[in-house]
Amino acid sequence: MLREVLKFLNPQAGQNFVDCTLGGAGYTLAIAESAGEKGRVVSIDLDKLALENAAKNIKERNLQNITLVNDNFKNLEKIVEENFSDQKIDGVVMDLGLSSAQLDDESRGFSFKGDRPLNMAFGPINDNSTAEIINHYPLLELTRIFTDYGEEHQAYHIAKAIVEGRKLKRIETTGDLIALIEKAVPPRFRSRIHPATKIFQALRMETNEELRVLSEVLAAAAQVLKPGGRLVVVSFHSGEDRIVKRFLKDTEGWQIMTKRPEVPTEDEIEDNPRARSAKLRAAIKI
Ligand SMILES: C[S@@+](CC[C@H](N)C(=O)[O-])C[C@H]1O[C@@H](n2cnc3c(N)ncnc32)[C@H](O)[C@@H]1O
Repeated sequence: MLREVLKFLNPQAGQNFVDCTLGGAGYTLAIAESAGEKGRVVSIDLDKLALENAAKNIKERNLQNITLVNDNFKNLEKIVEENFSDQKIDGVVMDLGLSSAQLDDESRGFSFKGDRPLNMAFGPINDNSTAEIINHYPLLELTRIFTDYGEEHQAYHIAKAIVEGRKLKRIETTGDLIALIEKAVPPRFRSRIHPATKIFQALRMETNEELRVLSEVLAAAAQVLKPGGRLVVVSFHSGEDRIVKRFLKDTEGWQIMTKRPEVPTEDEIEDNPRARSAKLRAAIKI
């Protein structure tokens, strides 16, 4: 949703921005071009690979106004303090979830194609690793995350199959997990979407504590933006969109630019089917 992001962020020469989710650097590069030599973009990602790829792109384009930070965006206030001295920020953007490079990364288990390690962490593996969640979370806790984050109707059945399966043998790979999910949901009970899709999404969200860090970064954005500064958030999950919507409505000091969320055009969805669930909300700090 680059076109829409630029429309709402409205980057101008000499302004300062934070891109909380560098990913493939599409947004960062476009914002940096508009901010020009006197402006700056600090771009954050938990994923070292994203930073390495972006560094190459930035060098090729000879852009001098981008700083890359390998951190969790929940630390936005500290990152701004360290990188902008006393200045407040003109715009904060975030494009939540995972990048295409992460989906294709065979050393991690974001995709349910192939047989990959059970690691859905955006950054370094933490205590709440995906393997730990799958092999140790109690039945009802697994059911809760599959219901709340995956909106999966068969959450209990699938959680039960995982708990029974791991009693026999530790679940080591995405292939082991998919086999249990497929056993729990026979083809005649499946919808158009493979049942692993929602379960993988739920496990990724739990591994990275995505809803919690989103609430934290929104509160931090309110602190670092100058009056007139803009916040633009692209989300892909109804739970995330609800948090953004409520935050902008319930926190004082925002002029909301998107009464209804902006969604991708038909053409964009055709080019990139994963964009179909994207929702963009934007607001100006008063
Ligand atoms: C959808 S991609 C961003 C794509 C980017 N806008 C572009 O133009 O290519 C999301 C990125 O955010 C990163 N990310 C997700 N949660 C994060 C967090 N809490 N802190 C830092 N980076 C995070 C992921 O590692 C991923 O690279």
